[in-house]
Amino acid sequence: MTTSSAPGKIYLFGEHAVVYGEPAVPCAIEQRARVTVEQRSDTALRVSADDLTLDGFTVEYDGAATGVPDVDVPQALVEAAMSYVQDAINQALDAADVEDAGFEISIESDIPLGAGLGSSAAVVVATIDAATRELGTVLSAEEIADRAYHVENTVQNGEASRADTFCSAMGGAVRVEGDSCGCINAPSDLPIVIGYDGGSGDTGKLVAGVRDLRNEYTFASDTISTIGDLVRRGETALAEGDTERIGELMNINHGLLSALGVSSRSLANMVWAARDAGAHGAKLTGAGGGGCIVALDPTDETETALQYTPGCERAFRAELTETGVTQV
Ligand code: PMV
Repeated sequence: MTTSSAPGKIYLFGEHAVVYGEPAVPCAIEQRARVTVEQRSDTALRVSADDLTLDGFTVEYDGAATGVPDVDVPQALVEAAMSYVQDAINQALDAADVEDAGFEISIESDIPLGAGLGSSAAVVVATIDAATRELGTVLSAEEIADRAYHVENTVQNGEASRADTFCSAMGGAVRVEGDSCGCINAPSDLPIVIGYDGGSGDTGKLVAGVRDLRNEYTFASDTISTIGDLVRRGETALAEGDTERIGELMNINHGLLSALGVSSRSLANMVWAARDAGAHGAKLTGAGGGGCIVALDPTDETETALQYTPGCERAFRAELTETGVTQV
C-alpha cells in the first residue's frame, strides 16, 4: 500500500491566457489531495473518494461500460473523476512498464472540486506517484508533471495547459508558457486568503467561451496578450517581494478576466468585499464562472469580511507550500 499527496494551487496571474501560449504564474498551497493505492490480485480498479466536497461517493468500477456506479452525484462528474483516475493509472502502468494490474484506490482531498484550486491536477499527480511507487518505480516530479498533463489534456479534450499539473508536482510558485515550465522565486509568506462560493465552473465551457470571444473580437485577443504583459510584470513584482504591486496587478488581472466573461456575481462580490476590507488585491482563480477568489491581506480583515459576504460559503487563509508531490 502506498500513499502520496500533492498540493492544490491558486493562480496569482495568467489563467485562460495561458491556453493561448501566454505565461501564467500559479502557486502551490498547503491544501492537498492524498491518494492511497494498493495493488489487487486481479485487474479491476476500485476507487473510493469520500471527501471531494461532493456529498461523498464511492465508485466500484471495473472498466466495463455496463458498470454504471450507483452514486448520488451527477453522472458526468463521476465519469470525469473516474476518467482522471483511470488515465492516471494507465500512465503509471506505462511508466512502470507493466501491461495490466488492478488497484484499490482511495482519495481524500482538502481541495474543493472544480473551484479553481487545481483539485483534479492534485489527484492525478498523487495517483501517478502512488501507483508507480506501488509498482516499484519512482518517477521524478518533472516526469509525473508531464504524464499528469497528458491525462488532463485528454480528459479536458485538448484544452488543458501544463500549469496546474506542473505546479502540483513541483510545489512553490511556477511559471508556465506553452510547453516551457520552471520554478520561480516568490515570497514564501504571501498573505493568501481564499473565498469560496461553494460552487464550481465548467472549465471546458469557460475555455470554449473565451475561445469564441477571441475568434469574434479583436479586443478579446488583445485582452489575452495584455494578460501576458501583466504576468511578466507580476513576475518582477514577485521577485522583488513587492506585495502592493502584486496586489495591484491581481486587481487588473481580475478586470481583464471579467472582460473575457469568466467572472460571476458571487466571484465579483467576494473580490469587492476583499478590496473594501483593505486587501492588497483580489481576483478570481482558475477557470472562473464560480468557485474561488484569491486575495492578499496580512490582516484578518479580508477573511472576516468574506465570512459576511453574500455568496461566500467559506473563507480561509492558505499557506504557500514548497512541497510538491510527495510520498506520505
Ligand atoms: O479551474 P482550474 O483550476 O482547472 O484552472 C483552469 C485554468 C485555465 O487556464 C482556464 C485552463 C488551463 O488548463 O490552463
